[in-house]
Amino acid sequence: MSKRIGILTSGGDCPGLNAVIRGAAKTCWGLGYDCIGFLKGYEGLHDPVQYITLTRQTTTGILNQGGTILGSTNKGRFAATVGVHDRVEIKPELLRGVAATVEQLGLDGLICIGGDGSLAIAQQFHEYGIPVVGVPKTIDNDLSATAFTFGFDSAVACATDALDRLHTTAASHDRVFVMEVMGRHAGWIALHSGMAGGGDVILIPEISWTFESVCHKILERQHNGKKFTLVVVAEGAELPEGGVVGEHREGAQAKLGGIGEIAAREIERRLLKETRTVVLGHLQRGGAPTTFDRVLATQYGAHAVRLIVEGRLGEMICYHPPQMDSVPIMEAVNRIRTVDADGAAVQAARALGICFGDAAEAASPFVARIGSVATSRDVELDADFVLDMAESAAEEALADG
Ligand code: F6P
Repeated sequence: MSKRIGILTSGGDCPGLNAVIRGAAKTCWGLGYDCIGFLKGYEGLHDPVQYITLTRQTTTGILNQGGTILGSTNKGRFAATVGVHDRVEIKPELLRGVAATVEQLGLDGLICIGGDGSLAIAQQFHEYGIPVVGVPKTIDNDLSATAFTFGFDSAVACATDALDRLHTTAASHDRVFVMEVMGRHAGWIALHSGMAGGGDVILIPEISWTFESVCHKILERQHNGKKFTLVVVAEGAELPEGGVVGEHREGAQAKLGGIGEIAAREIERRLLKETRTVVLGHLQRGGAPTTFDRVLATQYGAHAVRLIVEGRLGEMICYHPPQMDSVPIMEAVNRIRTVDADGAAVQAARALGICFGDAAEAASPFVARIGSVATSRDVELDADFVLDMAESAAEEALADG
């Protein structure tokens, strides 16, 4: 019987999935293995079994294509987690069915590409004796066992480009823009795009923030002649009064989103300054992968095959620059890598004057100089600022006819 490896893409898609598939398939052929790709994530493994044979013809031209030629499923029969730590047992009949598929197709190993939820499924497969290896994927970059997941760099590039565009229109109209980016448990996309795109305020799940601090930053900028402000907020950042914004779903992860609009309305209410919201949403998950993600994804694909060939089943490939390493999947799942609030990137951002909406800025020399934070609700607005804002509002109204 010929040697054969299977591959599947599970969970939310992201740029670079096809590059992993291509990297794994080409490596397989080089080592004398056939490679097949299961359709629609784990769903294609059982009842009905759905797969395609990966050939030069089916994989040509996919390196730079977003999405996944295999399709993916975010929720489904195999869901193994609800929240970060809530494990759900996969039904035994499903596990039996997958084991039978692997046996019948003569697979030496199955490469599962996914984030924490999808890798939790792979872990249960491994415990059942199904030969799996994992490849870490998520635009959120929040898997603890690897320095980078592919898809992150592409998402940051998308968010940075959006900020660049918002910059010019915000400056032209003296507006505040709140841009909401993805980042369920971790603020990596907000932090990196905020730094790369010249954001003035970055709000992330790892740092609690207040409207006073955010409004103060806007007023400070205004005082210094910058009448516009760019705020980047991660979808998973908690509101000052606590709680994330989104839609609760029974038996599934909440659908996050909406914090940007809430923040914008409150900023506008407090400062009487026109504030607009942009939600980037799934734009961050679409499109071509960046060069960094193509290289990373290609390496993940090639090294995942190596793990199978070396018999290192139940492990996940990971990137510890400059090395490609591996860790037991068990160690990789359910352990989220969040932004270090005192880490180098946050420190650098603070040194540049970027505001994280926390007490650190409230204690800055500038605050000491102008006194308490000015908001229309809590304290009186500084007279100069009010005048400035009234003037610009009047000018804008005139200009708009
Ligand atoms: O985990 C990746 C992610 O992009 C999160 O940032 C986001 O909350 C979630 O996926 C969205 O998933 P869906 O496509 O199911 O709405």
